[in-house]
Amino acid sequence: MARILVADDEEGVRSFLAEALEYEGHSVTMAADGEEAARLMARQGVDLLLTDLRMPGMDGLTLLRKVREEQPDVEVVVLTAVGTVESAVAAMKAGAFDYLLKPVGSPAELRLTVARALERRALLNWKTQARQSAGAVELSWGAPAMHPVVEALRKVSPTQATVLLVGESGTGKEVTARALHQWSERADGPFVAVNCAALTETLLESELFGHEKGAFTGAVAQRRGRIELAQGGTFFLDEVGELKAELQAKLLRVLQERRFERVGGTRTLEADVRWVAATNRDLKGMMARGEFREDLYHRLAVFPIRLPSLRERREDLRPLSELLLRRIGDELGRPGLRLSPEAVARLEAFTWPGNVRELRNALERAAILADGPVVEPGHLWLDPTGAAGPVVDAPISEGGRLPSLTLEELERRAIEQAIADEAGNRKRAAQRLGIGLRTLYDKLRRYESP
Ligand SMILES: Nc1ncnc2c1ncn2[C@@H]1O[C@H](COP(=O)(O)OP(=O)(O)OP(=O)(O)O)[C@@H](O)[C@H]1O
Ligand SMILES: [Mg+2]
Repeated sequence: MARILVADDEEGVRSFLAEALEYEGHSVTMAADGEEAARLMARQGVDLLLTDLRMPGMDGLTLLRKVREEQPDVEVVVLTAVGTVESAVAAMKAGAFDYLLKPVGSPAELRLTVARALERRALLNWKTQARQSAGAVELSWGAPAMHPVVEALRKVSPTQATVLLVGESGTGKEVTARALHQWSERADGPFVAVNCAALTETLLESELFGHEKGAFTGAVAQRRGRIELAQGGTFFLDEVGELKAELQAKLLRVLQERRFERVGGTRTLEADVRWVAATNRDLKGMMARGEFREDLYHRLAVFPIRLPSLRERREDLRPLSELLLRRIGDELGRPGLRLSPEAVARLEAFTWPGNVRELRNALERAAILADGPVVEPGHLWLDPTGAAGPVVDAPISEGGRLPSLTLEELERRAIEQAIADEAGNRKRAAQRLGIGLRTLYDKLRRYESP
């Protein structure tokens, strides 16, 4: 059961709440004002804070902000008197999970709200533990759209099943693959990734399987491939949809027989790896068109998981942005960076075709532009319609307003920026821009021949 701190200046309210919660089996501590609550929280572990908003001394909102800053894992539910709902809204904006109207009508209502807050906390906590045990990146997976995903991950991680992660560019396929590894029994083993799109056929083959000395021109010494290096660990096949037919066949064999040979070699080696693959392509469609082997698809998609786009998990935008901004602040040596409410609204209004990666880029840019700790909408450089990607080359002096350029010029810059951001990968640049690859090429050709 949970550890709950109740902060309220009215003794009657405190004891009513404490009694109802203790009846549920929770362990409850009480504080008569914000200061006392903060002191208690610094000393003892708390899962949930239930706080009145109006209290003498440090009020509930200040306490809430402090907790959000110092103990982001603690869920907060605020109590607010009827007629002061605006303050509840302010509290929600400051990161409260929910609010309860005072006087609290029934213990049932209280229990329900508390149970929901604790459920969310349990979900986050499970991830925190996994993170701490393996030093993984911190993930924000709070939105309802992510619950089935997290549930599926939790179930499949400890097994040996091959997992196929499907999702648009930037939805977190790679971080998810890493999380999966860290939550598996192979966590102490290596996590080895290979990007199937980044290498040529021959190179990819020797990358995967290794080669014997003299196997091909340039193979001056024997080399172990990545599958060998991943023994006892997890092997991540990124962008698996880009695999050419010949390699698809070779990979299929490893997946089926769990055995392989180095290029130019005769000795058969065991592949003791757990497979995770990822793609942003529609493998089923590719299969129907004969571009992806059906047998390989079924080997890979033993346990498919679809990662929702950021558009489908809007509730995550704020917590995710806060998390990313905290990380960016650490990197830039600027702790305490935060978003103004207007900036949050701007982020929420945007469609994020490039998903979490695009959000991260936008926040990083904004953090650099913001002189103080607060990121304002002007720093974000997002097209208000949300249709296009971020506006590039916007003059800083104009506070993020669209620069006065011809539409064509604007388009060209957006395309150049997208290609640069995707390290020259035009397919992904097109995705980021929300246009087809062919359209992108048409446009590029037009720029080249004026
Ligand atoms: N749930 C999350 N919480 C925190 N950060 C995330 C989350 N999901 C993604 N990110 C961050 O977003 C960025 C993109 O994630 P990642 O590289 O895993 O995406 P991807 O799906 O593999 O993209 P692509 O298809 O373009 O390769 C990374 O910086 C990653 O740390
Ligand atoms: Mg990736």
